[in-house]
Amino acid sequence: MLRVPVEKIEPGMVLARPIPVPNDPRRFLLQRGVEIPLDLIPRLKQLNIREVWIRHRDLEFLEDLIDEGLGERQREVYLHVRRNFEMIMGGAASEIDVQHFESSIAALFDFLKKSSTGNVLLQKLDAFDNYLMSHSTNVCYLSLLLGLKVDRYLIEERQFKRARDAKDLQSLGLGCLLHDVGKMFIPVEILNKPGRLTPEETQIIQRHPVDGFELVKGRVPANAAQIVLNHHQRYRGGGYPTRVDSRSGKELPPLEGKQIPILSRIATICDVYDAATTSRVYQVAKPPVQVLHEMRTFCQSFFDPQIARAFYQIIPPFPIGQIVTLSNGVEAAVVDFNPKYPVQPKVQGLRDPYGWPYSDSSLEEIDLALHSDLEIASINGVDVRPFQLSQATAEVAGAVALA
Ligand SMILES: [Fe+2]
Ligand SMILES: [Fe+2]
Repeated sequence: MLRVPVEKIEPGMVLARPIPVPNDPRRFLLQRGVEIPLDLIPRLKQLNIREVWIRHRDLEFLEDLIDEGLGERQREVYLHVRRNFEMIMGGAASEIDVQHFESSIAALFDFLKKSSTGNVLLQKLDAFDNYLMSHSTNVCYLSLLLGLKVDRYLIEERQFKRARDAKDLQSLGLGCLLHDVGKMFIPVEILNKPGRLTPEETQIIQRHPVDGFELVKGRVPANAAQIVLNHHQRYRGGGYPTRVDSRSGKELPPLEGKQIPILSRIATICDVYDAATTSRVYQVAKPPVQVLHEMRTFCQSFFDPQIARAFYQIIPPFPIGQIVTLSNGVEAAVVDFNPKYPVQPKVQGLRDPYGWPYSDSSLEEIDLALHSDLEIASINGVDVRPFQLSQATAEVAGAVALA
C-alpha cells in the first residue's frame, strides 16, 4: 500500500482504501479494490484530496494498520462542524449544537484511546469541500491525539481537578472545533488574499479570536471558549489578542507561558501544523518534514516546550506509505515511524538506483536509524535534506524546544 499523489495516478492503479464523500460519513466515491478511472482526477482535486492509497503487492502488510473507523468518525465530526457553521452564518449563533458536537467528539476520542494501530498512520481528514471546516476538524483530531500523549502533564497542570477530569479532553475537542469560528465574519477577499496583508487587513484577521469568543462564550464550557480566545497566544509572548484592563481601559500585554491555559497551548501547536500542511487558495501544502523543520527552527518560541516535545513524537516527518528517494538513488516506501529518530524511519526499497523494480521488495527493508551513511534525499524530486538536521533525533527536538 502506497500513498500516491493525485497527479501521479496511472492507469491500472487499484485502491487500497476507499475514497470518501466528505460530508457523508458512510458513503464513498470509490471503494477499495477498484481501479481508479482517470476521469475522476478533477473531482478528487476539487475535494482537496492530494493523495490516494494504492495497492502494492509487497506492501500489503501496511493495510493491516488501517482502521476505516477513524475516517468515519472524523467525517462525522466534520458534518457537525458544517451544520453548525452554516447555522451560524445563517444568523442562528445561539443554535450551537453542543450536545451533538460532544457526542461526535466522544466517539472520535474513544476510538483514538482504544486504537492500537490507527494512531501510527496519522491520518487527517481524507476529503473536504471547505478549508475552515476541515481545518477545525483536523485541529480537533490532532489535539485529542496530543492530549492523550500529555495526559500526565494535564493532571500536573490541572491540579484543581480530579485526575480523571483533568484528562477529560471533551472541552479540548470542542474548543478546537470552534477555534476559528470568528473567521466566518472576515470577508473572503481578505481571508483568501494571496499576497501580503495591509495593516488594516491584518487587524481584521486578528480580530477572529475575540469575535469567536464573543460568539461562543456562555454557550460552551469556559475552558473550550478559552481556546477560541487564546489559540494565537505564544508561549514566550508576542501573540494576540492584547487584553484591556476592564477598570482603567489600559492595554495589557498578551498572555504568555503558563498563564495560557494548557488546553489552548495544545491547540496552538496543532493549529500551526495543520494550517501549514494543508493547501489553500493562496498556498500549496508543505510536506510534513518541511513544516516540522520550520516549526522547530522558526516557531519554537510559540510553543510550550513539554507539549512541543510530545508533538514531535507523534507526528512523523515522513508518513507511512510515502514514496521517497534515498541518498543512494534507491526509490523506497516508508513503512514505519521511529519516534526516537524521526527522520530515520524504516523503508522498503521499490526500485534500484537505475529505476528497475526489485523482484521482491519485501527483501529490501532498510532501517535508516541503523545506516548512518544513508538518508532520505528527496520526495517527488524536491530535496528534503535541508529540513532534517533540526530533527535528527528526538533528543535534539527536546533540546531545541527547550532553548
Ligand atoms: Fe485562528
Ligand atoms: Fe486555525
